[in-house]
Amino acid sequence: MYANTVAVVTGASRGLGRALAGQLLAGGATVITLARGSSPELAEAADRHGARLQQLTADLSDASSIETAAGLISAALPAGAARYLLINNAGTLDPVSLAEGLFDAQAIQRAFNVNVSAAMVLTAAFLRSAPKEADLRIVNISSGAGRRTNAGWAVYCATKAALDLYTRVLAEENPGLRVASLAPGVVDTDMQAHIRSSDRAQFPDLDRFIQLHEQGQLASPESTASRILHHVISDRFGHEILDDIRNYDSPTQP
Ligand SMILES: NC(=O)c1ccc[n+]([C@@H]2O[C@H](COP(=O)([O-])OP(=O)(O)OC[C@H]3O[C@@H](n4cnc5c(N)ncnc54)[C@H](OP(=O)(O)O)[C@@H]3O)[C@@H](O)[C@H]2O)c1
Repeated sequence: MYANTVAVVTGASRGLGRALAGQLLAGGATVITLARGSSPELAEAADRHGARLQQLTADLSDASSIETAAGLISAALPAGAARYLLINNAGTLDPVSLAEGLFDAQAIQRAFNVNVSAAMVLTAAFLRSAPKEADLRIVNISSGAGRRTNAGWAVYCATKAALDLYTRVLAEENPGLRVASLAPGVVDTDMQAHIRSSDRAQFPDLDRFIQLHEQGQLASPESTASRILHHVISDRFGHEILDDIRNYDSPTQP
């Protein structure tokens, strides 16, 4: 399904990104990943499927590391594929704090680097390096938190809102490019476990997320990844710039 495809997936060491990269490898894509850690499961999946995988390591909270990573990705992109995907998925929730406690400017800057600056710089590298004649598609993994308020998540909400508006500008500047900022829904990853471990004083909505988990309402990373990838390679991808994967049927549903 993903033969003749080169995919760059950030934040693929675990969670949603790992599921996206794993399914791309299983479908025959050449995959380049980027995170601080790497994934033995992905290495094993690449071996099993005979797919090409390169796991690059970088701390995307650091501005100079983002620039280095962009150069590595430009150099690693193989020529000659029909389709090139960039999935800016790496994300961080921290710092979680009511606005009155947001004194740590460096922590705020790190979050903006991971959630916004990395997507911008990697997109620039991707657009410069991927062959212009190929089918180029960019997915920025956003969040409902960028489109509505959550007390305690001022930084996270602001980064995802920034990612959304950046994506709209990118689309306006590149009318032929397929791009979207896509909210994935509530997914059962480390990020959700981290949310459930929040200090209630700093995150008043804590009980709602504990209930979602207890009631089995979190989607698996695998099912969400499958829905995202089916959408991303479809003809309708990019028609809606600010989008939510829950707007589309699951590919396993009739
Ligand atoms: N889970 C949800 O319910 C949910 C809901 C809405 C939106 N999202 C979004 O979906 C995306 C994936 O989230 P997830 O739930 O899979 O999160 P996760 O399980 O916490 O995984 C986050 C990924 O981002 C990478 N990452 C974090 N900080 C990084 C840094 N400084 N440098 C490089 N990579 C970094 C991590 O890799 P390393 O730690 O190895 O660096 C990891 O691979 C995020 O953009 C998140 O905002 C998730």
